[in-house]
Amino acid sequence: MQTPKNWNTNEIKLDVQRFKMDLENAVKRELIKKNEPAPKTDVRIVNPIDSEDLNYIVSLIENNEIWNLELLGKGACGSVYSYKNYAIKILFNQEKDAEIMEKLQSSKYVPTLYAVINDNSFIMSKVDGLTVKKYDMLRKKDEIENFIHPAFKDMFNEALDDFVTLGFQPYDLHTDNVMIDRSTGTPVVIDVGFFTELTDYTKMKIKEDGINSVDIYSIGGYCSAKGWIEGTVEKYTLLRNLQLESEKILNKYDLSKAII
Ligand SMILES: Nc1ncnc2c1ncn2[C@@H]1O[C@H](COP(=O)(O)OP(=O)(O)OP(=O)(O)O)[C@@H](O)[C@H]1O
Ligand SMILES: [Mg+2]
Repeated sequence: MQTPKNWNTNEIKLDVQRFKMDLENAVKRELIKKNEPAPKTDVRIVNPIDSEDLNYIVSLIENNEIWNLELLGKGACGSVYSYKNYAIKILFNQEKDAEIMEKLQSSKYVPTLYAVINDNSFIMSKVDGLTVKKYDMLRKKDEIENFIHPAFKDMFNEALDDFVTLGFQPYDLHTDNVMIDRSTGTPVVIDVGFFTELTDYTKMKIKEDGINSVDIYSIGGYCSAKGWIEGTVEKYTLLRNLQLESEKILNKYDLSKAII
């Protein structure tokens, strides 16, 4: 069967997800009518979170009202909504995002994971910033100032090192999965759903011989990021360095006395 040209697969997935939630809620309501206990919402707290905020978010999910919140973005695997300083990700299927993000919590380059709700939603910290893709787009149109930290690339590599040290092969790091924090200019990897666990052999090798014993540049994560990290974003960090350099030169010479 041919798919009509204007059908967006993400929209279709979102509709299916909504339909599933509506159905689940209808079943819950029927069970309540029959005096049978409705399936309990499973909430697991990972990092301290205000209980009022948590209860409110859980009630939105239970009542199928999460859609009313502002949509931060959506991808192939789920939709992310905004509430206060939280980002709430609702996955289309049971994915491993939360489980992986929990294991990466000691890295400063991932959002804080607050709570996991059932097996398809979780609450994390909201990044105040832009995805690399959006940043790049706005910079090209000169609509925003450069706010990337001059050491962005080193930090990004440090993030990759963190992930590998914590036992994961980073993957799927395209420009919508990495954000740039507005106030610090540093990278935050917001989507770790496709990271895969390193083999026991690789983990052992890292433990014994250190991170450099693994060629992280040859694995998927770096490859998918390589294009933009070596290209566009780097261009802006260089530009920033160049600006700083020119400022230094200007400061060094007293140009006020120059005869033009
Ligand atoms: N913690 C966050 N803070 C702010 N915005 C976020 C956060 N997490 C996700 N987003 C926004 O939501 C979008 C979609 O999120 P995410 O990449 O996790 O979804 P996905 O469906 O897993 O994506 P993919 O298509 O890469 O699998 C991101 O590109 C980003 O714009
Ligand atoms: Mg994504």
